[in-house]
Amino acid sequence: MKLLKLIANLGYGSRREVLALFADGRVRDAEGALLYGDDEIDPAQVVIDGAPLDPAPGMLLMLHKPVGYTCSHRDQGRLVYDLFPPRFRARKPVLSSAGRLDRDTSGLLLFTDDGQLLHRIVSPKAALTKVYRARLADSLRGDEAALFASGSLMLDGETRPLLPAQLVVMSEREVELHLHEGRYHQVRRMFAAVSNHVTELHRARIGGLTLDGLPEGEWRLLDAEEQRQLFDG
Ligand code: URA
Repeated sequence: MKLLKLIANLGYGSRREVLALFADGRVRDAEGALLYGDDEIDPAQVVIDGAPLDPAPGMLLMLHKPVGYTCSHRDQGRLVYDLFPPRFRARKPVLSSAGRLDRDTSGLLLFTDDGQLLHRIVSPKAALTKVYRARLADSLRGDEAALFASGSLMLDGETRPLLPAQLVVMSEREVELHLHEGRYHQVRRMFAAVSNHVTELHRARIGGLTLDGLPEGEWRLLDAEEQRQLFDG
C-alpha cells in the first residue's frame, strides 16, 4: 500500500493532513531520508517526527484494564479506548476488543484490528480458557466447585446450561475460576446463582497469555510468538 494511504489509515490525519506531513519533511526512513506519499516501503522502516510509525494493520494488543473503564467505542464516562493514543480511534480498519470486561472488572483484555483474528479469539470453537480471580462478599458454602464443574448450572434467563468450569479455592472468600466460554457477566451471575456476591473481579489469563507484570492502565503490542501462545493455553 502507498505510504500516504497507510499513514492516513493509521489515524495520523485526513489525506490532506498527511500530505502536509510529507510536504513538511516529517516522514522519513530509519536513515533519515525523506519519504514520499507514493512510496511503498516496509512500515517498520517509517519514522514520523523521529518516532516509529504506529503498528501496521493486523496488530494484536493486550491492555491491563483498570476498574472504572467501559468496553465501548461510545458511552458515557471513561472508555478503554481512552487508554490508547487518540489516533488509534481513527484507525482503519477499526481496533476492537476481543470480548469484554465489565466496567467494574480489571485485568487482561485483548484488542485487534484483524477481523479474522478477532473471530478466532472469541469463537466458541477456540474455547480459550479465561482465568478470573474473584473476591466474594460471603464465605463459600462448599458445594460451588462441584456445581460449577457439573455442566448443569443454568443461569437466569438462559436456555443452555453452562459448560463445566473449574473453581480453585484460595481462601474462604477468594477464588480462581477457569471458564471455557464467555457469557454476559458470567462470573458475577455464577456466584449470584449460589447466593454469593462478587466484590472484586480480575481476569488474569486468556489462553496461554497473562499480563506478566504489565502495569494497570498500560498496553503493549503482542508479537507472533505471543499470538501462538494465546491459542496454546
Ligand atoms: N464475568 C463477569 O461477571 N464480568 C466480567 O467482566 C467477565 C466475566
